[in-house]
Amino acid sequence: MAEVVIPYKPRPTQKALHRDIKRFNVICAHRRFGKTTWAIAHAVRAAVTNRKQLPRYAFVSPLRSQSKVVAWDSILKPMVRNVPGVTFNEQELRADFPHNESRITLAGGDSPDSLRGQRFDGVICDEFGQMHPRVWSEILRPALTDRKGWAVFIGTPAGMDNNFSEIYQHAEVTGGNWFARTYRADETGIIDSEELEDARRSMSKAEYEQEFLCSWQSNTRGSIFGEEVQEAQEEGRICAVPHDKAALVNVAFDLGISDTFTMWFFQEVGREIHFIDYYENTGMGLDHYVKVLRDKPYNYGRYLFPHDVSARELGTGVSRAETLQTLGITPTVMPRTNPEDRISAARMAFGRLWFDKDKCSEGLRALRAYRFEYSEKLRILKPKPLHNWASHAADSFGLACEGFKVARPRSQMRKPDRSWIV
Ligand SMILES: Nc1ncnc2c1ncn2[C@@H]1O[C@H](COP(=O)(O)OP(=O)(O)O)[C@@H](O)[C@H]1O
Ligand SMILES: [Mg+2]
Repeated sequence: MAEVVIPYKPRPTQKALHRDIKRFNVICAHRRFGKTTWAIAHAVRAAVTNRKQLPRYAFVSPLRSQSKVVAWDSILKPMVRNVPGVTFNEQELRADFPHNESRITLAGGDSPDSLRGQRFDGVICDEFGQMHPRVWSEILRPALTDRKGWAVFIGTPAGMDNNFSEIYQHAEVTGGNWFARTYRADETGIIDSEELEDARRSMSKAEYEQEFLCSWQSNTRGSIFGEEVQEAQEEGRICAVPHDKAALVNVAFDLGISDTFTMWFFQEVGREIHFIDYYENTGMGLDHYVKVLRDKPYNYGRYLFPHDVSARELGTGVSRAETLQTLGITPTVMPRTNPEDRISAARMAFGRLWFDKDKCSEGLRALRAYRFEYSEKLRILKPKPLHNWASHAADSFGLACEGFKVARPRSQMRKPDRSWIV
């Protein structure tokens, strides 16, 4: 086939990326970096030069309608217009290249079934953080097996709680054929400083840091403890916090049966509260959690439970408090409060809290993600916390904060030992 010129001249950063990427790639780059353009160009080159039979590529964004707006008319069609014989199927958002029978299809994470059962040589997940993680794990990943196809995930960090941050970390930790790279707007020079400064002034600090500086730490909209966790991080209170063998370990619980069951382990040392450990699981019986407690090398003080531990189960007439007693755990039943009370207790206490950065990482991730409900329609935050995967960790955390006075016998108060800080 004769040489075909595609009207795309990669910027230096894009060029480096075309060269450096591996089989699985997670690219975190600021708004307007040219991520979508780059990814489509990558797929176009792969498609038109592929010599295998019936090469297939997919571009997926959170919504099918979004794929049409961001990639179809504005990027893909103009880019491949000169490829001889190319045909466009407007209904199926599909470009076909007859010279090698290859095809690029645009799709949406909102209707992933259209992609089921196909095989792909390469796939792009644009704005992966807003997509259900199953689109990748159940549909796209299996579709790459036949051809050992490649995948590209692109996005900006939207908090620590979504699948984009998870897959980014996965790529960083896994290495090998996984590739992760970040491009901040103050480093690439793609957006000039005046424009960047204007954007900074018209956005909140957290939004700007997230969208342009690719900060994973920034609060997402409505985050309840985001600022407090950030402050703890900046003040060095998220670090290696060892278990103090001389002090008792208290545990605060949130009871889930079909939902997540969470427990925070904390010690009171002088005025400070040390969160030394966190555990969560789903769908296990009480005996499982009691075993988890037993298997840890801690000397326990109080077990703080929400009031519903005393409620009698309809089936058996026995309360979970009674079941726990038979398993050797005597619960301290906390007074009934609402989530708002727990949030304010936690906010009041936060400046005194220390967290072990490894053992509490799952719990901290949930605290960062815990948020108020946002009404897209009214464009306001509702006063109620959103019930999501993160709310169970936040509930037991709030209970711990309400329980500090209960959990601490006066005789145990003593000066904090700082010898462990290195
Ligand atoms: N190599 C390039 N040369 C010229 N313009 C480009 C290039 N790559 C991207 N752009 C332009 O930059 C803007 C942002 O590109 P886009 O791919 O939508 O960025 P992102 O997905 O990172 O927000 C678009 O107007 C696009 O046409
Ligand atoms: Mg884009």
